[in-house]
Amino acid sequence: MRNIPYSFILRRLATILSVAIISLSLIAAITGILLSFYYEPTAGGAYNSLQIIKSEIPNGWLIQRLHEVAGNGLIAVALIQIVVMFLGEKFRRSWLTAWISGILLTLTAIALSWTAMLLDWTQLGYWRFNIELGTIEVIPLIGSLLREFLTGGGAVNTMTVMRLYTLHSYILAMGAIVLAIVHLMGLLRQEQEEKQESIEISNTAY
Ligand code: HEM
Repeated sequence: MRNIPYSFILRRLATILSVAIISLSLIAAITGILLSFYYEPTAGGAYNSLQIIKSEIPNGWLIQRLHEVAGNGLIAVALIQIVVMFLGEKFRRSWLTAWISGILLTLTAIALSWTAMLLDWTQLGYWRFNIELGTIEVIPLIGSLLREFLTGGGAVNTMTVMRLYTLHSYILAMGAIVLAIVHLMGLLRQEQEEKQESIEISNTAY
């Protein structure tokens, strides 16, 4: 049996995971856009609109569930990818591009999940967000500014839901898609370079 090198397995695994990452990002973005047709980003309306999506809109529950699974799945796969890429480190430009974009993507996916905390306007989300605001507020120098920016005035209300929704659905979602594309491109480039190198090595051997 042919001896498959450890580095080859790690490289292939990273490429496969990057395809999973871009697929999950696209599923989350598409289902997110579908949710936005019925979702109401207001303090009272968010909870009710999600209940309507889940119980009255045809296949709404499926779209909501897919969004949840793809969004949380993205975090899990992106974290596994960091470990795989760390073990197969190459320190060449293509690997570094994929490494940096992979780390930024993981942080963006976590931020997407964090900004979604208040979007369903449940008791759990509301109180969790209030507790986390308290932590944010004590950050030296920028704490109160950050609280003001996230809440849109200090109190947690419709303005806060709208701010988090804008961050979640426009800025962070677009960032995740761009980073997922850069990540995949970096790994595909690495595959090409490795292939080219192995051809050159086998040519010089003969
Ligand atoms: C790469 C793109 C995206 C990712 C990774 C993502 C991720 C997530 C995650 C992790 C949640 C929390 C799910 C849960 O645990 O309950 C969530 C909720 C939500 N997202 Fe996104 N999202 C993305 C794009 C979007 C877009 C484009 C929109 C709207 C235009 C959107 C609208 C929403 C809404 C309304 C919720 C609340 C739904 C609920 O709590 O059931 N998302 N998203």
